[in-house]
Amino acid sequence: MTSPATITIDEAKSVVIVKENGSERRLPMDSAEAFSAVSRAWLRCGWDTKYVYSFSWLGRPIIQLPEDLIRIQEVIYSVKPDVIVETGVAHGGSLIFHASLCRAIGKGRVIGIDIEIRPHNRRAIAEHELRRYITTIEGSSTHPQVAGLVRSMIDPGETVLVILDSNHTKAHVLGELEVYAPLVTKGSYIVACDGIMAQVKGAPRSGDDWDWNNPTEAAREFVDRHQDFVIEEPAFPFNEGAVRERVTYWPGAFLKRVA
Ligand SMILES: C[S@@+](CC[C@H](N)C(=O)[O-])C[C@H]1O[C@@H](n2cnc3c(N)ncnc32)[C@H](O)[C@@H]1O
Repeated sequence: MTSPATITIDEAKSVVIVKENGSERRLPMDSAEAFSAVSRAWLRCGWDTKYVYSFSWLGRPIIQLPEDLIRIQEVIYSVKPDVIVETGVAHGGSLIFHASLCRAIGKGRVIGIDIEIRPHNRRAIAEHELRRYITTIEGSSTHPQVAGLVRSMIDPGETVLVILDSNHTKAHVLGELEVYAPLVTKGSYIVACDGIMAQVKGAPRSGDDWDWNNPTEAAREFVDRHQDFVIEEPAFPFNEGAVRERVTYWPGAFLKRVA
């Protein structure tokens, strides 16, 4: 976990001043370091203001940071999965987002799992223009029957990508990783979303144990036990700027199957 910093943005002098752990850094505004410091504060401010609860995709609310959506789009376009499995449906926006990519690419379908799909959300997904790309399953993502149902919907040889965005406790994400990682094909990913929790501990709507009880910790523990996966953030397919790090709610989230 990172310690709190005092950040001063001096636009007139084009400098960002970061005071942290008794030292001061003066970062030129055109540096990746300045961008990183401001982004860290922006992420915290966005958490406190519930910024991610202000977006929709093709008519459905989607609870994601826009950069994370652009980045997962880059990965989906590169992997071109036959099946995208996502745990955590909520209003259905992310299912519709993935379905829209499947339609644009001309390949793929989406399986969404949620412990509770509320009737109005179920109806909205069932009536959506992209409904033919989507199957939903109601139940806990780690329940053996749910996992078995998902497995039965995937044909041998199909390329599979998995996104975990349901219950974000370390134990639950570890359970999901054990259940769904075997479905992921070599070169594809299982994504453990929302490790931002560690960075926002102490903020409103955060838990006292979020520094360790989060998806990033689950991902780390999982790769320690499973040599066929590595934590590897996919490289940006295009980057003519100075920034090399993503501004994300999903730090350390991408587990790539390498064997
Ligand atoms: C963060 S929301 C999902 C957001 C959605 N992926 C999006 O981008 O809009 C988390 C969802 O996980 C669901 N959930 C919680 N525990 C679960 C479990 N054990 N199994 C499956 N879904 C669960 C909740 O009902 C909630 O709808």
